[in-house]
Amino acid sequence: MSALSFEQAPPISAPLRFFLTAPWFGVAAGLALAWRWEAVTASRWTPEAVGVVHLMTAGFLLQVMVGALLQVMPVAVGANVAKPLWLAAVVHPCLTLGGALLSAGFLGVGPWAMQAAAVLLGVGVLGFVVVTGLALLRSAAIGPTLLVLRLAVGGLLVAAALGVALTSIFGFGAALPLVELLDLHVAWASLGWALLLVMGVGYLVVPMFQLTPAYPVRVARALPALVTAALAAWTVGTVWSVDAARWLGVGLGVAGVAGFAVTTLRLQSLRRRKVTDSTLLAWRVSMGCLLAAAVAQGALRWLPEGGAARSRLETFTGLALFAGAFPAAINGMLPRIVGFIGWLHLQRVTLTPPTMQQLMPEARGKWQLRTFLAALALLAATPLWAPIVVPGGLLFALSCALLGWHVSLGARAYARHRREATSAPLTPTDVPH
Ligand code: HEM
Repeated sequence: MSALSFEQAPPISAPLRFFLTAPWFGVAAGLALAWRWEAVTASRWTPEAVGVVHLMTAGFLLQVMVGALLQVMPVAVGANVAKPLWLAAVVHPCLTLGGALLSAGFLGVGPWAMQAAAVLLGVGVLGFVVVTGLALLRSAAIGPTLLVLRLAVGGLLVAAALGVALTSIFGFGAALPLVELLDLHVAWASLGWALLLVMGVGYLVVPMFQLTPAYPVRVARALPALVTAALAAWTVGTVWSVDAARWLGVGLGVAGVAGFAVTTLRLQSLRRRKVTDSTLLAWRVSMGCLLAAAVAQGALRWLPEGGAARSRLETFTGLALFAGAFPAAINGMLPRIVGFIGWLHLQRVTLTPPTMQQLMPEARGKWQLRTFLAALALLAATPLWAPIVVPGGLLFALSCALLGWHVSLGARAYARHRREATSAPLTPTDVPH
C-alpha cells in the first residue's frame, strides 16, 4: 500500500457537507418504512419498497460514499481532484435534491419528480465520475487500493446510467427492457459501486483505525477481480439470456462478497489493540450481514420464481445489504473519519489541536450504535413477521438522527476550535513550522 499523503487532503467542507446531509436520508427511510410498512413489505417491487430502498441507496449511501471518496482519493492514492470545492458545490445539491425527488416519485408524488430526479442524479453522478475518474486515471500510486477505487467509480457510472434509464421508463414512459435493466442495475449498484467502495475504503480504514494487519496484497487484488468477473458474467448472461453465465455471475459474486467479509473478520481477530470499540463492532456486524446476504443470494438461485419463500429471502437479502452491511460500515466509519479530518485540518492552524476523541467522543457513538443494532435485529425478523418493521423503522430513524446529530456536533466543535485558533493573536511559538 502506498504511503498516505495527508497534506493533499481537500478542504474540509468538500467531504463534510455530504457527511452532514447523508444521515437524514436514513431518518427519512426509517420513517417511510414505518409509515408505509404494509406496501413496503408486500413485495420488493412495490413503488413504496423501491422508494425506501433509494432513500437508503441513492440518498444515505451515495452521499457518504461520494464524500468518503473525495476525502480518501488524494490521501490514499495521491489522486488530486481538480477544484474539490467547486465539484462539491455542484454535485452535492444535485445528489441531495435528485435522491429526495427519486424516492418522492416512487412514494407517489408523481412522474415530474422522477423526471427531475433522472436529470439531477444524471448530472450529479456524471460530473462526479468524470472529475474523480480523471484524477484516479492520472494517479501513479501502486497497490490494490487504486485499482478498487477506479473500479468502484466505473461501477457507479454504469449503475447510475442504468438507474437513469430505468427512471426514464417511469418518468418519461421510455420503451426500454425493464426486467433486464433492473437485474443489471441492482448488480452493478450493489457490487460494482457499493461493495467495491466499501472494499477500497476498508483497505485503508480497517488497518488504520482498528490497528489490524494490512490486507494481504494478493487477496486485496483478487477480491475486486472476482467481483468484476461476477459482474461481467452476470451482464453477459442478462443481455444475451445465457443462464449458465448468470449462474457463474452469482457464484463469483458470492465468493467475492464472502471472501472480503471473511478476510476482514480474520484481520480483526489479529488486531494489536484488543479493546472492542464501536468502530470494530460496527465493522464486525457489517461483515456478518455481508455473509448473510451472500448465503441468502446463493440460496435464492435454487428457489422457484414467484414463491413466498423466494419473496421472503429477497426481502431478507435487501435488508441484510441496505439496512445491515452498508449502513453498519458507515456507522463504524463516519464518526472516525469526521474526527480524523477535523483533527487533520486543526493541527495545521494550532499546536494544540483537540484529539479525534474530543471532536467525536466514543461515548456518544456507543448509544447511537446500540440503537442501530436494536433496529437491525428487529428489521431482520421482517420476513417472519412484517409488522415488526414499524418499531424497526422508527428505531432505525432514531439511530440515523443520532448519527446526523453527532456529525453536526463534530462539525461545530471543529468550527469552534478553528475560530479560536485563527482569531487568537499569533505569537512566534504559535506558528506551526
Ligand atoms: C443514480 C441513481 C439511481 C437511480 C436513478 C436509480 C433508479 C432506480 C429505478 C428506477 C429502479 C427500478 C424500480 C422498479 O423497477 O420498480 C431501481 C431499482 C433498484 N435500485 Fe436504483 N437507482 C439509483 C441508484 C441506486 C444505488 C446507488 C443503489 C444501490 C447501491 C440502487 C439499488 C437499487 C435496487 C436494490 C433496486 C431494486 C429495488 C427492489 O427490488 O425493491 N440504486 N433504481
